[in-house]
Amino acid sequence: MVAKFLLFFLLYCTTALAQGPAAAPAPAGPTNVTKILEKAGQFTVFIRLLKATQEDVTLNGQLNNTHNGITMFAPSDSAFQSLKTGTLNSINDQEKAELVQFHVIPTYLSSSQFQTVSNPVTTQAGSGDRFQLNVTTTGNAVNISTGLTNTSVSGTVYTDGQLAIYQVDKVLLPIDIFTPKPPPPAPAPEIPKKKKAKSAESPIVPKDISGEVSFIVSNNVVFFGVGIVSAILSL
Ligand SMILES: *[C@@H]1O[C@H](CO)[C@@H](O)[C@H](O)[C@H]1NC(C)=O
Ligand SMILES: *[C@@H]1O[C@H](CO)[C@@H](O)[C@H](O)[C@H]1NC(C)=O
Ligand SMILES: *[C@@H]1O[C@H](CO)[C@@H](O)[C@H](O)[C@H]1NC(C)=O
Ligand SMILES: *[C@@H]1O[C@H](CO)[C@@H](O)[C@H](O)[C@H]1NC(C)=O
Ligand SMILES: *[C@@H]1O[C@H](CO)[C@@H](O)[C@H](O)[C@H]1NC(C)=O
Repeated sequence: MVAKFLLFFLLYCTTALAQGPAAAPAPAGPTNVTKILEKAGQFTVFIRLLKATQEDVTLNGQLNNTHNGITMFAPSDSAFQSLKTGTLNSINDQEKAELVQFHVIPTYLSSSQFQTVSNPVTTQAGSGDRFQLNVTTTGNAVNISTGLTNTSVSGTVYTDGQLAIYQVDKVLLPIDIFTPKPPPPAPAPEIPKKKKAKSAESPIVPKDISGEVSFIVSNNVVFFGVGIVSAILSL
């Protein structure tokens, strides 16, 4: 448990949480997503990801400058803890940004509006087959499915008519990041260097022995030429 905590600490604590003690109630001002999450507690890993990818700045800017609002599915710390070890460590910075963006819908959705969304929902990570996020409802339950993750909204963290933050207890994994991509039109596979020139009769000729091959070929031409000459001479 302690080791696990330390691991998470090392992985994500790139920026120190330079927070003074919370004094007076927050002054009215632009909505600050990370501040809201900090106040709610239990979102420390997601907050670190938001800051590391600078998505916090993007989101706060969007909240200040557009009227569409934002809906966020915030994975709790236990959601990150239940990921396979090393999952986040295995993806690059751009994929981390996409992972965060995948948890954000660029429209405000109240919980009753989930009943009428059309699937798949477009997230900030984009649309398309590999970024599917489906939201379905049964009674009061709001289910989310990505093709890799099935979960339900487990609570409302914050809602003000412009920003809605819902808690999820699983990290929503997009297919695009966590399923191997189909291979690109294949370049010829690299052939191990060790192959000897002996295999010149093999149809596959490694690049690095082509010099020797042309030597052998020209030798054959020489022999062929000699053959013709002796054939002519024997006439
Ligand atoms: C938002 O709040 C965080 C603390 O949660 C703070 O570090 C950051 O500077 C704030 N951002 C803005 C734009 O006020
Ligand atoms: C919010 O938007 C107003 C006007 O669009 C702008 O003057 C202000 O600097 C913005 N604040 C932040 C924190 O982005
Ligand atoms: C939502 O998930 C619950 C289990 O978490 C399941 O029983 C229910 O059938 C699901 N509803 C839909 C519409 O997928
Ligand atoms: C999402 O919903 C669409 C439309 O109903 C469906 O075609 C697609 O297979 C669903 N994807 C997932 C991951 O559930
Ligand atoms: C998610 O739920 C659907 C329908 O209930 C099921 O077919 C699928 O296998 C589940 N996927 C995962 C990864 O659990």
